[in-house]
Amino acid sequence: MTIAAVLTAAGSGSRLGHALPKAVVPVAGEPLVVHAARALLAAHAADGSRVTQLVVTAPEAMLDEVAALLGPVVDDAPEDVRLDVVGGGRTRQESVAAGLSELEDGVDVVLVHDAARPFAPPALVARVVDAVHAGHPAVVPGLPVVDTVKRVGHGDAAGRPVVETVPRADLVAVQTPQGFDRDVLERAHAVGWGRAAHEATAASDDAGLVEATGVAVWVVPGDERAAKVTTARDLLVAQALTTGDRA
Ligand code: CTP
Ligand code: MG
Repeated sequence: MTIAAVLTAAGSGSRLGHALPKAVVPVAGEPLVVHAARALLAAHAADGSRVTQLVVTAPEAMLDEVAALLGPVVDDAPEDVRLDVVGGGRTRQESVAAGLSELEDGVDVVLVHDAARPFAPPALVARVVDAVHAGHPAVVPGLPVVDTVKRVGHGDAAGRPVVETVPRADLVAVQTPQGFDRDVLERAHAVGWGRAAHEATAASDDAGLVEATGVAVWVVPGDERAAKVTTARDLLVAQALTTGDRA
């Protein structure tokens, strides 16, 4: 099995409110995208296979800078890794599509991971790859939902009526990396491109596009450490939790 990873890092990080694009904001001394890349390349599947191509989507103005940041990470990897840094699109979905167009011939498993989840541990990456290897064409990590979740109807800024309480035991909060059979993911993006890429309803994750093509998606246990950095508060939490323990 030949594994590639598409690492999305082209967003601006508007909700973070930092002077730098989110992916190059440092935490524990290194940019988020560097932490995320290192975890992807450190992972090895049960059969010993590793990521051998890393495609990173970056803001157009930062392609050289991101390539320079990741060069040493790739050089340190236990295996030869091809690095491609490509300009992202207007949406995350467009950025992933741009990344997919760079995949080498022979790649058959694709991980899609967000630089905004810098501390996803290598063991989580491996768990996702192992499930794809076991025959699941689309795999996502998921964590139990701790809050009670209610579906609401239309209202206004002052409030909305509850329609129903969704049984929590049936819910998971989905993370990245997500892992796919390459053909399944490419087909889902080709379909999703026509339908939703420019709409507000654009899928917020790649597994959502795959689901829409009728392919079953499988959930493996997620990891709290793969939490997403969205706001300044998340960055403070990530900073506080960084102890160097990445087992
Ligand atoms: N991303 C991307 N291309 C885009 C938008 C997002 O590659 N056009 C990436 C981000 O860099 C991030 C991941 O997708 O790693 C998840 O997106 P999100 O957390 O929303 O990051 P941003 O879009 O950068 O943040 P915000 O929505 O607050 O602006
Ligand atoms: Mg965003």
